[in-house]
Amino acid sequence: LALAGVSSRRAADELIVRGVVRVNGNVVRELGTPVNPGDVVDVRGTVVAPGAERTYVAVHKPVGMVTTLRDPQGRRTVAELLPKGSPRLVPVGRLDYDTAGLLLMTDDGELVNRLLHPRYEVEKTYRATIAGRLSAEDVKGLQGGVELDAYKAAGAKVRVVAVRGDSSVVDITIHEGRNRQVRRMFEALRHPVRTLVRLRFGPVALGDLPPGGVRPLTAKELHALQRTAAGNIDSEPEVAR
Ligand code: URA
Repeated sequence: LALAGVSSRRAADELIVRGVVRVNGNVVRELGTPVNPGDVVDVRGTVVAPGAERTYVAVHKPVGMVTTLRDPQGRRTVAELLPKGSPRLVPVGRLDYDTAGLLLMTDDGELVNRLLHPRYEVEKTYRATIAGRLSAEDVKGLQGGVELDAYKAAGAKVRVVAVRGDSSVVDITIHEGRNRQVRRMFEALRHPVRTLVRLRFGPVALGDLPPGGVRPLTAKELHALQRTAAGNIDSEPEVAR
Protein backbone atom coordinates (compact mmCIF):
# COMPACT_ATOMS: atom_id res chain seq x y z
CA LEU A 1 0.00 0.00 0.00
CA ALA A 2 2.84 2.36 0.82
CA LEU A 3 4.70 1.54 -2.39
CA ALA A 4 1.54 2.22 -4.38
CA GLY A 5 1.28 5.63 -2.74
CA VAL A 6 -1.93 4.96 -0.80
CA SER A 7 -0.51 6.01 2.55
CA SER A 8 2.56 5.80 4.77
CA ARG A 9 3.48 2.34 5.99
CA ARG A 10 2.18 3.07 9.45
CA ALA A 11 -1.17 4.35 8.13
CA ALA A 12 -1.33 1.29 5.86
CA ASP A 13 -1.05 -0.96 8.91
CA GLU A 14 -3.96 0.90 10.47
CA LEU A 15 -6.08 0.56 7.35
CA ILE A 16 -5.45 -3.19 7.39
CA VAL A 17 -6.23 -3.56 11.08
CA ARG A 18 -9.44 -1.57 10.62
CA GLY A 19 -10.57 -4.09 8.01
CA VAL A 20 -10.94 -1.76 5.03
CA VAL A 21 -8.37 -3.53 2.86
CA ARG A 22 -9.35 -6.48 0.70
CA VAL A 23 -7.26 -8.89 -1.36
CA ASN A 24 -9.26 -10.54 -4.14
CA GLY A 25 -12.42 -9.43 -2.40
CA ASN A 26 -11.54 -10.90 1.00
CA VAL A 27 -10.89 -8.59 3.94
CA VAL A 28 -7.38 -9.07 5.33
CA ARG A 29 -6.62 -7.95 8.85
CA GLU A 30 -3.29 -9.65 9.24
CA LEU A 31 -0.24 -7.41 8.81
CA GLY A 32 2.34 -8.77 6.41
CA THR A 33 -0.17 -10.75 4.34
CA PRO A 34 1.70 -11.44 1.10
CA VAL A 35 0.22 -10.17 -2.16
CA ASN A 36 1.19 -11.81 -5.41
CA PRO A 37 1.24 -10.55 -8.99
CA GLY A 38 -2.30 -10.75 -10.31
CA ASP A 39 -3.96 -10.24 -6.91
CA VAL A 40 -6.44 -7.37 -6.77
CA VAL A 41 -6.15 -5.14 -3.72
CA ASP A 42 -8.76 -2.55 -2.84
CA VAL A 43 -9.15 -0.01 -0.06
CA ARG A 44 -12.80 0.75 0.67
CA GLY A 45 -13.63 -0.51 -2.80
CA THR A 46 -11.01 1.52 -4.69
CA VAL A 47 -8.59 -0.75 -6.50
CA VAL A 48 -4.93 -0.04 -5.73
CA ALA A 49 -2.57 0.15 -8.71
CA PRO A 50 0.58 -1.89 -8.23
CA GLY A 51 3.75 0.02 -7.33
CA ALA A 52 6.68 0.24 -9.67
CA GLU A 53 8.23 -3.12 -10.50
CA ARG A 54 11.42 -3.73 -8.60
CA THR A 55 14.30 -6.06 -9.35
CA TYR A 56 15.91 -8.33 -6.77
CA VAL A 57 18.83 -10.59 -7.61
CA ALA A 58 21.27 -12.88 -5.86
CA VAL A 59 24.86 -12.59 -7.09
CA HIS A 60 27.76 -14.94 -6.37
CA LYS A 61 30.53 -12.41 -5.97
CA PRO A 62 33.88 -13.95 -6.84
CA VAL A 63 37.13 -13.04 -5.07
CA GLY A 64 38.85 -10.09 -6.76
CA MET A 65 35.92 -7.72 -7.25
CA VAL A 66 34.85 -4.69 -5.25
CA THR A 67 31.28 -4.37 -4.00
CA THR A 68 30.68 -0.95 -5.52
CA LEU A 69 29.26 0.14 -8.83
CA ARG A 70 32.40 2.09 -9.84
CA ASP A 71 35.93 1.88 -8.56
CA PRO A 72 38.20 4.92 -8.81
CA GLN A 73 41.19 2.53 -8.76
CA GLY A 74 39.87 0.70 -11.81
CA ARG A 75 39.34 -2.66 -10.13
CA ARG A 76 36.59 -4.95 -11.37
CA THR A 77 33.20 -4.32 -9.74
CA VAL A 78 30.13 -6.44 -9.10
CA ALA A 79 28.24 -4.20 -11.56
CA GLU A 80 30.03 -6.12 -14.35
CA LEU A 81 28.19 -9.28 -13.36
CA LEU A 82 24.72 -7.84 -14.02
CA PRO A 83 23.13 -8.57 -17.37
CA LYS A 84 23.27 -5.74 -19.93
CA GLY A 85 20.25 -3.46 -19.72
CA SER A 86 19.39 -4.36 -16.14
CA PRO A 87 18.20 -1.49 -13.95
CA ARG A 88 20.69 0.22 -11.65
CA LEU A 89 20.89 -2.20 -8.75
CA VAL A 90 22.72 -1.41 -5.55
CA PRO A 91 24.41 -4.01 -3.36
CA VAL A 92 22.81 -4.86 -0.01
CA GLY A 93 25.86 -4.27 2.15
CA ARG A 94 29.38 -5.17 1.18
CA LEU A 95 31.75 -8.08 0.85
CA ASP A 96 35.50 -7.53 0.97
CA TYR A 97 37.54 -7.64 -2.23
CA ASP A 98 38.93 -11.02 -1.13
CA THR A 99 35.58 -12.45 0.09
CA ALA A 100 33.33 -14.45 -2.22
CA GLY A 101 29.72 -15.51 -1.94
CA LEU A 102 26.16 -14.30 -1.74
CA LEU A 103 25.45 -10.65 -2.39
CA LEU A 104 21.92 -9.37 -2.87
CA MET A 105 21.36 -6.48 -5.25
CA THR A 106 18.19 -4.48 -5.84
CA ASP A 107 16.74 -1.13 -6.84
CA ASP A 108 14.45 -1.20 -3.79
CA GLY A 109 16.27 1.35 -1.64
CA GLU A 110 13.82 1.07 1.20
CA LEU A 111 14.37 -2.68 1.54
CA VAL A 112 18.15 -2.12 1.42
CA ASN A 113 17.93 0.36 4.30
CA ARG A 114 15.84 -2.00 6.35
CA LEU A 115 18.02 -5.06 5.73
CA LEU A 116 21.11 -3.12 6.76
CA HIS A 117 19.51 -1.46 9.76
CA PRO A 118 21.06 -2.93 12.92
CA ARG A 119 17.60 -3.15 14.51
CA TYR A 120 16.61 -6.13 12.36
CA GLU A 121 19.73 -8.15 13.19
CA VAL A 122 19.66 -9.93 9.85
CA GLU A 123 21.81 -13.06 10.16
CA LYS A 124 24.61 -13.66 7.69
CA THR A 125 26.41 -17.00 7.51
CA TYR A 126 29.99 -17.28 6.29
CA ARG A 127 32.14 -20.32 5.59
CA ALA A 128 35.66 -19.51 6.72
CA THR A 129 38.76 -21.58 6.14
CA ILE A 130 41.05 -20.60 8.97
CA ALA A 131 44.56 -21.42 10.07
CA GLY A 132 44.77 -23.98 12.87
CA ARG A 133 42.09 -25.64 14.93
CA LEU A 134 39.61 -23.93 17.21
CA SER A 135 39.82 -24.92 20.84
CA ALA A 136 36.66 -25.30 22.91
CA GLU A 137 37.65 -21.98 24.46
CA ASP A 138 37.88 -20.30 21.05
CA VAL A 139 34.37 -21.53 20.20
CA LYS A 140 33.07 -20.24 23.51
CA GLY A 141 34.81 -16.93 22.85
CA LEU A 142 33.11 -16.55 19.47
CA GLN A 143 29.76 -17.50 20.95
CA GLY A 144 30.15 -15.06 23.82
CA GLY A 145 31.47 -12.15 21.75
CA VAL A 146 35.06 -11.43 20.80
CA GLU A 147 36.74 -8.16 21.82
CA LEU A 148 37.70 -6.23 18.69
CA ASP A 149 39.68 -3.01 19.13
CA ALA A 150 37.12 -0.55 20.35
CA TYR A 151 34.09 -2.77 20.66
CA LYS A 152 32.90 -6.25 21.50
CA ALA A 153 31.34 -8.28 18.70
CA ALA A 154 27.92 -9.75 19.47
CA GLY A 155 27.89 -13.50 20.05
CA ALA A 156 28.11 -15.64 16.92
CA LYS A 157 26.78 -19.07 16.04
CA VAL A 158 29.68 -21.37 15.23
CA ARG A 159 29.92 -24.79 13.61
CA VAL A 160 33.19 -26.53 12.84
CA VAL A 161 32.55 -28.25 9.51
CA ALA A 162 35.92 -29.93 8.96
CA VAL A 163 39.48 -30.02 10.20
CA ARG A 164 42.12 -30.65 7.55
CA GLY A 165 45.78 -30.71 8.50
CA ASP A 166 46.67 -27.27 9.82
CA SER A 167 43.43 -25.60 8.79
CA SER A 168 39.75 -25.77 9.69
CA VAL A 169 36.51 -25.01 7.91
CA VAL A 170 34.07 -23.16 10.13
CA ASP A 171 30.58 -21.83 9.48
CA ILE A 172 29.96 -18.67 11.44
CA THR A 173 26.72 -16.69 11.67
CA ILE A 174 26.70 -13.06 12.76
CA HIS A 175 24.09 -10.35 12.58
CA GLU A 176 26.37 -7.35 12.64
CA GLY A 177 28.27 -6.09 9.62
CA ARG A 178 31.31 -4.18 10.74
CA ASN A 179 34.26 -3.73 8.45
CA ARG A 180 36.08 -7.07 7.95
CA GLN A 181 34.29 -8.35 11.02
CA VAL A 182 34.61 -12.11 10.49
CA ARG A 183 38.29 -11.80 9.59
CA ARG A 184 38.92 -9.65 12.65
CA MET A 185 37.05 -12.04 14.94
CA PHE A 186 39.23 -14.97 13.88
CA GLU A 187 42.37 -12.83 13.91
CA ALA A 188 41.61 -11.89 17.51
CA LEU A 189 41.79 -15.61 18.33
CA ARG A 190 45.00 -16.03 16.28
CA HIS A 191 43.35 -18.12 13.59
CA PRO A 192 43.69 -15.93 10.49
CA VAL A 193 41.12 -16.45 7.75
CA ARG A 194 42.48 -17.97 4.55
CA THR A 195 39.28 -17.94 2.50
CA LEU A 196 35.84 -16.53 3.23
CA VAL A 197 32.57 -17.21 1.42
CA ARG A 198 29.14 -15.90 2.41
CA LEU A 199 26.65 -18.76 2.27
CA ARG A 200 23.52 -17.02 3.45
CA PHE A 201 21.99 -13.58 3.88
CA GLY A 202 18.90 -13.76 6.10
CA PRO A 203 16.50 -16.22 4.48
CA VAL A 204 18.39 -16.36 1.15
CA ALA A 205 21.00 -19.07 0.57
CA LEU A 206 23.84 -19.05 -1.97
CA GLY A 207 23.01 -22.64 -2.92
CA ASP A 208 24.73 -23.84 -6.09
CA LEU A 209 24.94 -20.47 -7.83
CA PRO A 210 28.42 -20.54 -9.41
CA PRO A 211 30.97 -17.73 -8.86
CA GLY A 212 30.04 -14.81 -11.11
CA GLY A 213 26.47 -16.13 -11.45
CA VAL A 214 23.34 -14.01 -11.04
CA ARG A 215 19.76 -15.19 -10.50
CA PRO A 216 16.52 -13.42 -9.64
CA LEU A 217 15.18 -14.04 -6.15
CA THR A 218 12.17 -16.33 -6.04
CA ALA A 219 8.83 -14.94 -4.84
CA LYS A 220 9.25 -17.08 -1.73
CA GLU A 221 12.68 -15.63 -0.97
CA LEU A 222 11.43 -12.10 -1.54
CA HIS A 223 8.48 -12.57 0.79
CA ALA A 224 10.78 -14.02 3.43
CA LEU A 225 13.20 -11.09 3.05
CA GLN A 226 10.36 -8.62 3.34
CA ARG A 227 9.18 -10.37 6.50
CA THR A 228 12.74 -10.20 7.87
CA ALA A 229 12.69 -6.45 7.33
CA ALA A 230 9.11 -5.97 8.44
CA GLY A 231 8.23 -3.48 11.10
CA ASN A 232 8.12 0.22 10.95
CA ILE A 233 11.04 2.60 10.80
CA ASP A 234 9.02 5.48 9.31
CA SER A 235 9.65 7.40 12.51
CA GLU A 236 13.41 6.97 12.17
CA PRO A 237 14.41 7.90 8.66
CA GLU A 238 18.11 7.37 9.38
CA VAL A 239 20.05 5.54 6.72
CA ALA A 240 21.78 2.37 7.84
CA ARG A 241 25.55 2.40 7.99
N1 URA B 1 33.31 -10.30 7.31
C1 URA B 1 34.50 -10.09 6.71
O1 URA B 1 35.52 -10.12 7.37
N2 URA B 1 34.53 -9.88 5.39
C2 URA B 1 33.41 -9.83 4.63
O2 URA B 1 33.50 -9.62 3.42
C3 URA B 1 32.18 -10.03 5.25
C4 URA B 1 32.16 -10.27 6.61
